[in-house]
Amino acid sequence: MLLQPIHHLVALEQMKASDEAIAMLTCYDASFAKISAAAGVDVLLVGDSLGMVLKGAENTLDVTMPDMIYHTKCVAAGAPNTIIIADMPFGSYEYSYQDALQNAQQLIAAGAHIVKLEAGGEMINTARYLVERGIPVCAHLGFTPQSVQQLGGYKIQGRTDETAQKITQDAIKMSQAGVSLVLLEMVPASLAKHITDSIPTPTIGIGAGVDCSGQVLVLQDLLGIYTGVAHKKPSEYKAPRFAKNFLRENGSIQQAIVDYVQAVKNRTFPALEHSY
Ligand code: KIV
Repeated sequence: MLLQPIHHLVALEQMKASDEAIAMLTCYDASFAKISAAAGVDVLLVGDSLGMVLKGAENTLDVTMPDMIYHTKCVAAGAPNTIIIADMPFGSYEYSYQDALQNAQQLIAAGAHIVKLEAGGEMINTARYLVERGIPVCAHLGFTPQSVQQLGGYKIQGRTDETAQKITQDAIKMSQAGVSLVLLEMVPASLAKHITDSIPTPTIGIGAGVDCSGQVLVLQDLLGIYTGVAHKKPSEYKAPRFAKNFLRENGSIQQAIVDYVQAVKNRTFPALEHSY
């Protein structure tokens, strides 16, 4: 389906309803935005993963609103007809609803169609506040990188009945709050399937199994060019289980992204080896 950003909410819902997998990829600049759009990527995510893959930081915590605005503008310039999601960085939506609205509006003005915020709980009210004021929202649940310190590292979430129920309830409440997408990171595939079957909202998985409504990967993981934070040796880095290097198979960046899109669409990616 060729998605027009203006109709993005309806188009994404229709893709879930017709069981067409949504292919999402992170993107931070105009050149890759153009290549990714031409390769058939449905949604570009200007992720705060840029803190790691572009700035060389240990985590996403020092990414700022000016960083996100700059990269969102770059991506929007390169892919004017593709749906763009921009991450709300750490500290840009937690203080007050008004603060969240003001920052979300800046990302929309920079070219995003949807803003993404992390965590359930109290953030469900923030998501509802934004949606009621005309800002489309993607809710990021499961492993939420901005809480990496609270979560004690990069760990799979929702392994116990209690935590699985909490993530499911958060997803249901986010869906009822009117979010456009629920992104599930590093949760058991069975839990992601259960959530996908329980809500009308499309789900996007990363390390969440093949049964989500779509998938997302970090561009640098897809190209096999992320080797960990700047100050460590590449040999000290082990790519996450959910990452797949699509460039290794054919040597062309364009073809690697086309292959990723195809693998998402025909549900050969993620395979069991990329899931929990
Ligand atoms: O920031 C990001 O790139 C993300 C993906 C890992 C989903 O949130």
